[in-house]
Amino acid sequence: MTLLRTLILTAAGDERVRDMVAGAPISRDVVRRFVAGEHTEDAVRAAVTLAGRGLHATLDHLGEDVTDASDAEATVTAYERLLSRLAEEGVADRAEVSIKLSALGALLPDPDLMVRNAARVCAAAQSAATTLTIDMEDHTTTASTLATVALLRQRWPWVGAVLQSALRRTEADCAALAAPGSRVRLCKGAYAHPVELSHTGAHQVDLAYVRCARTLLAGAGLPMFATHDPRLVRILEHLLDTSGAAAGSVEFQMLYGIRPDEQLRLARAGHVVRVYVPYGQAWYGYLVRRLAERPANTAFFLRSLATRS
Ligand code: FDA
Repeated sequence: MTLLRTLILTAAGDERVRDMVAGAPISRDVVRRFVAGEHTEDAVRAAVTLAGRGLHATLDHLGEDVTDASDAEATVTAYERLLSRLAEEGVADRAEVSIKLSALGALLPDPDLMVRNAARVCAAAQSAATTLTIDMEDHTTTASTLATVALLRQRWPWVGAVLQSALRRTEADCAALAAPGSRVRLCKGAYAHPVELSHTGAHQVDLAYVRCARTLLAGAGLPMFATHDPRLVRILEHLLDTSGAAAGSVEFQMLYGIRPDEQLRLARAGHVVRVYVPYGQAWYGYLVRRLAERPANTAFFLRSLATRS
């Protein structure tokens, strides 16, 4: 992790910084570059627009680390509403949802509440005839998140998992999850991990990504490659060409607003491309992670704050 990225993530955790940024009359344009909007209909509109461009979507109702059961309940009902609207609009075959277990109550004292909530969202996804993927949060949650995925998959086998190549354990997790019917999103990882659990340096994380990709491609599940990294995308395309994998047997995934031209290029080349679309009012934590990943985004954001607040 670069020094700048560490600084941004640390500063973002400071309450005063959080209050200043979240309280600023921030231009809609800045947030909207990365976030579809605040309401269900904004997310539905984004999914319809993406579908019209030949792209798929996975929609994320922003929010994490809820400490109140009523907030977890609000997240469940937001997903239920969204899923039924996707079905009504006829885009559920192209738009699924992504959920965070900490938004569904994983940190609350009742250990069963989060599982009950996640099961309700799975049931809503099934009614809408679409799927759901469970985002991966920081390293303290990896084992419990994968255990919840395994539990939910007993009833809804299409529940997807996310693995982070930054973590050393991930190569073994890929091998374990590359089974028939499984859906695995492979990303580098957006969280700060302790050195003893993670690969050191960006290059090692990239090498681990390629090893993990090979394992997933050799397995019987659906690999979902989530990266904007041009070098990794080239390597993945090469691996697909040489393995003779059928179109649609993998997905490329990128975040809303990031490399949109590349998303279209991959789709035109015959790949399934799924765009991760965040929406909702709790955009702060999400935006900070995107800024930490790319200094150019931070400069853009700070300029907007300075000129429009
Ligand atoms: P990285 O950030 O290392 O950048 C490599 C190169 O990509 C850059 O040098 C540049 O060329 C290009 N690039 C990157 N950002 C760009 C930009 N804004 N504009 C132009 N070029 C850019 N993480 C997690 O921990 N848990 C999760 O559940 C998920 N889920 C998830 C879903 C999806 C669909 C995606 C795409 C990503 C995630 N992530 C995630 C985030 C992921 O772990 C990672 O933090 C980001 O994708 C950034 O890593 P990259 O692989 O894109 O490359």
